[in-house]
Amino acid sequence: MHAMSYGYFDDDAREYVITTPHTPYPWINYLGTEEFFGLISHTGGGYTFYRDALMRRLTRFRYNNVPTDSGGRCYYINDGGDVWSPTWAPAQTDLDHFEARHGLSYTSIAGERNGVRCEVLFLVPLGTTAEVHRVRLTNTADEDRSFQLFSLAEFCLWNAADDATNFQRNLSLGEVEVDAGTIYHTTEYRERRNHYAVYGVNSEIDGFDTDRESFVGLRNEWSAPQAVVEGRSRNSIASGWAPIGSHQIRIDLTAGEQRDVVFVLGYVENDVDDKWESPGVVNKTKARALLDRFATSQDVDDAMRGLRDYWSDLLGTVSISTGDPRVDRMINTWNPYQCMVTFNMSRSASYFESGLGRGMGFRDSAQDLLGIVHLIPERARERILDVAATQLPDGSAYHQYQPLTKRGNDSVGSGFNDDPLWLIEGTAAYVMETGDLTILDEAVPFDNNEQDTGSLFEHLTRSFHHVLNNRGPHGLPLIGRADWNDCLNLNAFSTEPGESFQTMETQDGRTAESVFIAGLFVHAGELYADLAAALGLDGVAGSARDHTAAMAETVLEHGWDGDWFLRAYDHFGDKVGSSECIEGQIFIEPQGICVMAGIGTETDHANRALDSVKQRLDSDHGILLHQPAFTEFHVELGEITTYPPGYKENGSVFCHTNPWVMIAATRLGRAEEAYAYWKKIAPAFREEISELHRTEPYVYAQTIAGRDAPRHGEAKNSWLSGTAAWNWVAITQHIIGVRTEIGGLRIEPCLPAELDDVQFNRRCRGAEYRIAITNRATGSPAQLTINGIHHEGTLIPYAAAGDVVKITVET
Ligand code: BGC
Ligand code: NOJ
Repeated sequence: MHAMSYGYFDDDAREYVITTPHTPYPWINYLGTEEFFGLISHTGGGYTFYRDALMRRLTRFRYNNVPTDSGGRCYYINDGGDVWSPTWAPAQTDLDHFEARHGLSYTSIAGERNGVRCEVLFLVPLGTTAEVHRVRLTNTADEDRSFQLFSLAEFCLWNAADDATNFQRNLSLGEVEVDAGTIYHTTEYRERRNHYAVYGVNSEIDGFDTDRESFVGLRNEWSAPQAVVEGRSRNSIASGWAPIGSHQIRIDLTAGEQRDVVFVLGYVENDVDDKWESPGVVNKTKARALLDRFATSQDVDDAMRGLRDYWSDLLGTVSISTGDPRVDRMINTWNPYQCMVTFNMSRSASYFESGLGRGMGFRDSAQDLLGIVHLIPERARERILDVAATQLPDGSAYHQYQPLTKRGNDSVGSGFNDDPLWLIEGTAAYVMETGDLTILDEAVPFDNNEQDTGSLFEHLTRSFHHVLNNRGPHGLPLIGRADWNDCLNLNAFSTEPGESFQTMETQDGRTAESVFIAGLFVHAGELYADLAAALGLDGVAGSARDHTAAMAETVLEHGWDGDWFLRAYDHFGDKVGSSECIEGQIFIEPQGICVMAGIGTETDHANRALDSVKQRLDSDHGILLHQPAFTEFHVELGEITTYPPGYKENGSVFCHTNPWVMIAATRLGRAEEAYAYWKKIAPAFREEISELHRTEPYVYAQTIAGRDAPRHGEAKNSWLSGTAAWNWVAITQHIIGVRTEIGGLRIEPCLPAELDDVQFNRRCRGAEYRIAITNRATGSPAQLTINGIHHEGTLIPYAAAGDVVKITVET
């Protein structure tokens, strides 16, 4: 395929620079780091919300829209009748120059037309519940210019699901207040809401609108609102229908002159007793203070500096230099950035996740921890306790919970039998990173019931035993509704369209077993035993290891198909993922997880499993989930067989699972193979095939269409996926090979020949480790020195906080 360029990495600025509006799909970024977030595309599309994309949405977003990415943050210029948008959309007028820069929690988009340059910087400053948009206008011509600038944001009536469905009520509900150029969206503030949105600007205005129809016109499109085209705001006050915020500002610029206008779109909460300034008039004190903080362009510069410092400091935790900029930019910037975003969003809000359901996933959030424990350990700690509080007393878990309430989500319920084990994985990652064993003693409720609490360690114990207590005929773990693969629904037997494969169970569930959960049990069980030992509970640790050893035996006895690990036994006790099957003969998940867990590594099972992966599942675009893909619907297998062959769970490259095989490969010293797998899916390596790949070249996508699909190589569902955290683990902890253990820092690189000289710096527990790796790809055990002195083995004791430790490694 002929390579087409849509942009490039600016590594020093830590930005991806997009040079055309015409990318193969909207390429988005996220604003916000803590509580207030925005999704923003390279043409300014997207929306903004406070904490919960479902329950507290400030601006409206339309799904299934045409074009896909419309609305959002709109700015228009009417220059003597010539209407254009600096972000290209929504006006879509051709620009003389276009450039969008997606940086770490900010985006800046610049357009230029007929001698007017307009650059809009979008950010959510630290500690702020608002988006700041700085519109920088420059007259690049050599004559005076005068034109009209219009802003536009369309408000969502807070609950995004209700907003998109309940029109009989909502079209009569909308309320606003306008106070000297500042627009307040106050729908439902009179009744049970104590929050409003504010859209203000640090300039005198020449007009405003708050009623969509008055501004846009009933039959116009976003590209050409009536008020903009005519250059004249209506000063409308919304009453019902669709409230918006729009300002009109006349801009006069002499030749070469530049002017900044700062808009703030924010969220304000008042005390119930302090809601009103006077009867019917909203209390605006906090809103005014918010606008005051960004009264000048200098204030925005300061906020940007704060944001940059925040990220530089965070990303300084790990840094690498390999000589290959693609590797370095993944590890230094984009992979950790994506890990932070997935941690914040879980799987809720992206251009593929509507933000209407799927709050925080139990297994998702637990795995996201693996990518961020080294960056924000305090927030990881809090998240672990939140997730654990949704665990049920028998050790099972709510599959999801809402971030605003932190309550388990009843509509999805529980019954995904791998879920509990991920809590062990996430907690262990945190403890290994920080050494903080006190978290294990924290009292945490079951099912959010304060009357029923246990220590976090007790929660992990119940996770472990939930698997042991729920085994099937072969002694393997029962799968329940599904395991990691949400679409392998062995107890659903769904025959009616529209039924949820994930929430329906028609069988008693006492037969179908998962080899994947067995492998995960061994992997997580070892970590559980390590934690028990660290607490001094040697008896618990010993018995846990006995159980994992027994499970590993069971896997080799009943979960081995001859050349690879089986995937499961179905409701009838028939094999899934076996050479005896017609379709779906081999699955990636058990090969990755079982070998990672060390099952069959003493014998030749593990190597044979990875040979089979290579022969049967490897493709040009990554490792396929299974082969052959299913061409027919199988009621006994569930949703996995509903996708056309090659898509999603039916045999795509499901990128989350590839790093398990990479890690497994490093365990067996298969260095070249591990790295080759990584390069096939790492976005910076796929940048050159962006036209085919379609989604952002700076972040992983969940899925890349598999070999059986017509669009093999095309990615979907970018951003929010366990892919981010697991690839981080694979590349940094197993290929580069630097990982935390309870007893020290383990340094065991498993590098391909092409990475022969690697400098890897890692901050951990307050000390700094500067690790220089010389790789001759000998395959023999690494030789280490610490501060110039030979060190036996590959485990480095943790240094005191403040120490700088110099390490050399030869392999
Ligand atoms: C998707 C899965 C997802 C599940 C969640 C399925 O349709 O293919 O990736 O985890 O829905 O409900
Ligand atoms: C996406 C879900 O968020 C995740 O939990 C699941 O493991 C994968 N899909 C595979 O089905």
